Amino acid sequence: FVRYAPYIAAINKLKAEKNAVILAHNYMTPEIYHGVADVVGDSLQLAIEATKVEADIIVQCGVHFMAETSKILNPAKTVLIPDVEAGCSLAESITAEGIAQMRARYPGAPVVSYVNTTAEVKAASDICCTSSNAAQIVAALPEETIIMTPDQYLAQNVANMVPQKKIVWWEGSCIVHEQYTPEDINDFRAMNPGTMIIAHPECPPDVVDACDYSGSTSGIIDYVTTNKPAKAMLVTECSMASNISDALPEIEFTGPCNMCPYMKKITLEKILWALHTGSEAVEVDPEVAGKARVAVERMIELSK
Ligand code: 13P
Ligand code: SF4
Repeated sequence: FVRYAPYIAAINKLKAEKNAVILAHNYMTPEIYHGVADVVGDSLQLAIEATKVEADIIVQCGVHFMAETSKILNPAKTVLIPDVEAGCSLAESITAEGIAQMRARYPGAPVVSYVNTTAEVKAASDICCTSSNAAQIVAALPEETIIMTPDQYLAQNVANMVPQKKIVWWEGSCIVHEQYTPEDINDFRAMNPGTMIIAHPECPPDVVDACDYSGSTSGIIDYVTTNKPAKAMLVTECSMASNISDALPEIEFTGPCNMCPYMKKITLEKILWALHTGSEAVEVDPEVAGKARVAVERMIELSK
């Protein structure tokens, strides 16, 4: 941490001078997560926190769709993303045209879009969901057939949890979580008996089935914190275990993890530069933002 100290000090000083807050996703590196973040959380928690920000500037330490969501929910604020190229394979997999194609194929079915989508896709959807509330949102909708975009695996995992619904999906996937296989999990378990294995629901359903629990990034943190196993493997992005291991010294975090190259574009140097220069400010067309806000706010309302 020592080599990061000058950056952390400079960012925290500038943050106070500019009246800025840093919202950081659970996948940020430990020096961001522990050193400069004002709020950390999963996608749903960060979206809710964005609505409450009173400071002038939000620095979104996460990927681009998260910064767009903050801007949609709190448009009067300046929302900075330290690297505009912090994308997401899911957000890139679908456009508003793709939503229109799904609506044409399944007339009358509502569209539930994962928050890992662009503002245009959210605007074309009926409601959003995150990994922490997807099953709850789908179960609450009156229609039997439901379109879920763009994550095929989240949709399949939700279909297993809400069997009364007919869920159809877009074929997107997360490049981090699609890499896991049930063989990886079963082999690891055979060689490391007694390890609690927890997956993110962006993993394929046979991977989730092979694990002990599945939840959003904050759901995973809460689960290990509550259960305190002697050994845990987090089937998700690598920074998750690094961020919580100091606070949970009784747990040995073990096993392979995968890096999200998009999340890892956010660095202390780029955060400092963003605060110093006020770039890159995220803008969303007001008409698109208005429609997208309806879909995100419906989600927040239904998640209560
Ligand atoms: P969470 O909402 O669970 O934090 O997930 C966001 C994400 O991008 C996971 O890959
Ligand atoms: Fe997107 Fe996957 Fe990275 Fe999350 S981990 S931001 S879903 S590519």
